[in-house]
Amino acid sequence: MRLNVAISDLRQAGERLGGVLHAGKCSPRLAHIGTPLPLYFWVLFSTLLFDVDSDGIGLITVNRPDKLNALNSTVIAELDSLIHAAEDDAAVGGLILTGAGPKAFVAGADITELADIDREHGIEMAKRGARVFRQIEQLNKPVIAAVNGFALGGGCELAMACHIRLASPTARFAQPEVKLGLIPGFGGTVRLPRLVGRGRALELLLTGNMIDAEEAARIGLVNRVVPAATLLDEARALLRVMLAQGPVARRLCLRAVDGALDLTMDDALALEATYFGDACASEDKAEGTRAFLDKRPSVFHGR
Ligand code: COA
Repeated sequence: MRLNVAISDLRQAGERLGGVLHAGKCSPRLAHIGTPLPLYFWVLFSTLLFDVDSDGIGLITVNRPDKLNALNSTVIAELDSLIHAAEDDAAVGGLILTGAGPKAFVAGADITELADIDREHGIEMAKRGARVFRQIEQLNKPVIAAVNGFALGGGCELAMACHIRLASPTARFAQPEVKLGLIPGFGGTVRLPRLVGRGRALELLLTGNMIDAEEAARIGLVNRVVPAATLLDEARALLRVMLAQGPVARRLCLRAVDGALDLTMDDALALEATYFGDACASEDKAEGTRAFLDKRPSVFHGR
């Protein structure tokens, strides 16, 4: 159920709370009445749309369709705020990230901001973007990129920072920075080789060539290609399956996979053993195993 609140009322409410307000859209949720409000209840983002459905699935849409959703500094700052807020909001179980309009997921960092940037600001910009993308990667809730068109440069990097990628047949992927005399700055040289292997990554990085959705699926850059018309529904259905499992185990799986990638095999197995122990100590595990033995569905409480 949604409240119909006038933007002006929302703005006044936000200002009373000392908030910063931007022009844009927001979908306040009844669930938050009488409880501490998450940031996005009263901050209206100018470059992002955000909505949470009754299943706890948050949909983030990068909303600059006239610029093919290019990532300017406002998008990065707003993503930063929104990801933080979503992480702290118990009503959000998982996230889907997509782009507005028919053409693009995200067509890269905003080239108008790159044109005059010097070394020092380049480092700052890359670190800021990389930090926000890492935050997405390390979120304790599953994040699916629904890639609905061009995912170029920072767009490909944003998709790679998500846990899972679904692509429509119109999706196109590239790291075209070399064509601009640049290299990726938001993790492209780091995540692409891990996802597709060093040889394929270097081919994409050194040529800047664009590949289609089928090729991206073939090399493991995306999980699978789904029809454009059902892309968001497929992402929601996938998240719903994940959200039906034990919440403690879900968080531990995300942490174990992220942690293990930087470790040796032995250290990674030791880390997994620790998290396995944590899972064994959870109420969710007691409930999940008991429900199996009782031949009934589990009722998890995320403890
Ligand atoms: N940064 C800033 N603006 C961008 C952008 C980017 N990364 N990508 C697209 N845009 C803008 C275009 O400048 C254009 O704006 P305008 O209408 O004010 O001129 C608008 O988005 C539409 O793009 P356009 O180039 O007209 O669309 P197209 O269908 O002809 O081409 C692309 C689509 C994606 C092939 C082309 O826009 C492109 O090559 N973009 C840059 C991709 C890139 O190099 N990304 C990595 C940056 S590090």
